[in-house]
Amino acid sequence: MKTGFAVAALAAVAAAAPGTPSMTNRMKIRQAAPAVTDADILNYALTLEHLEDKFYREGLSNFTADQFASAGFPAPFYDNLKEISSDEQTHVAFLTAALKAAGYPAVQECTYAFGVTDPKTFVMTSSILEGVGISAYLGAAAEIMSATYLTAAGSILTVESRHSAYIRSSLGESPFPSPFDVPLTLDEVYTLAAPFIVECPSDNPELPVKSFPTLMSAPTNGNITVGKTITLLTPDSVVKPADGSSQIYAAFITVTGPVFTPATAVDGGFTVTVPMAPKGGAPISGQTYAVLTGCNTTVTDETVAAGPAVFEVRM
Ligand SMILES: *[C@@H]1O[C@H](CO)[C@@H](O)[C@H](O)[C@H]1NC(C)=O
Ligand SMILES: *[C@@H]1O[C@H](CO)[C@@H](O)[C@H](O)[C@H]1NC(C)=O
Ligand SMILES: *[C@@H]1O[C@H](CO)[C@@H](O)[C@H](O)[C@H]1NC(C)=O
Repeated sequence: MKTGFAVAALAAVAAAAPGTPSMTNRMKIRQAAPAVTDADILNYALTLEHLEDKFYREGLSNFTADQFASAGFPAPFYDNLKEISSDEQTHVAFLTAALKAAGYPAVQECTYAFGVTDPKTFVMTSSILEGVGISAYLGAAAEIMSATYLTAAGSILTVESRHSAYIRSSLGESPFPSPFDVPLTLDEVYTLAAPFIVECPSDNPELPVKSFPTLMSAPTNGNITVGKTITLLTPDSVVKPADGSSQIYAAFITVTGPVFTPATAVDGGFTVTVPMAPKGGAPISGQTYAVLTGCNTTVTDETVAAGPAVFEVRM
């Protein structure tokens, strides 16, 4: 099924009219996307907040302050985690109340599989989740109609970005690795969240989101930089050009538009060289997202064939 989807997506991409890969174009395409209501956006945000809320509560009950300290995260790390956990719990309560006040049903917590084995993997997963949370709020901002909700979402976004800076710093990463954060679409974010979600209550309101086939960065020694060639694995899909000959691209997503680079098919995926952002464009640095597409002009939810993959690019 997923293979068919990927191939169909690429066929659609190949047929798409070329455009200019500018920010204006990307923004225009986003706003022309099928309308999502503010209630959808609030429930989408709540879906992510439930995931984060459960993640921190589970981590705090899995591991003690001493275990975090032994893993290299000494006091006041544990107390700060409790604070983050409390923030996420408050975000859940706030969004749930906002939906109820507007007369909409609110999604409930699901069951999750975080795959966390020790304090270090917990903190690494936390760093990725906070980064994806930021990209989710940032990407959704352009879709929010109500100024009140936009300000509320913004006030959550700034706090998530402070969590991210703290967690990154605790891992020895730059707390602010780029002058710009990356906006992701609802489907791109859902693709990254879905692997953690095991099952949701059957009466949860349905969200207008889908997930793309998985794309993941093959393990590296942690030193990915611009100009380095990395492998992006496609574990659940065979992504091939529709006509067997056209080029597949990796699109690195930035706020100033995607940066394309040709992808070379290898066993189990593709190799791509991390591109340099064009002059005046947002640099590719920090938590980075790449999708596979069949064209090198636009990235939309209609043209993504797999991904995003998430990985850290260092300066
Ligand atoms: C908590 O521990 C369980 C059992 O080892 C593990 O499956 C789960 O991923 C852990 N979750 C977190 C958030 O640490
Ligand atoms: C990354 O590169 C730096 C310098 O190039 C090196 O000191 C460090 O050990 C490398 N890290 C890993 C995990 O290989
Ligand atoms: C995009 O693809 C065209 C061919 O279809 C090629 O000429 C051009 O160099 C490509 N640009 C990038 C940035 O890959």
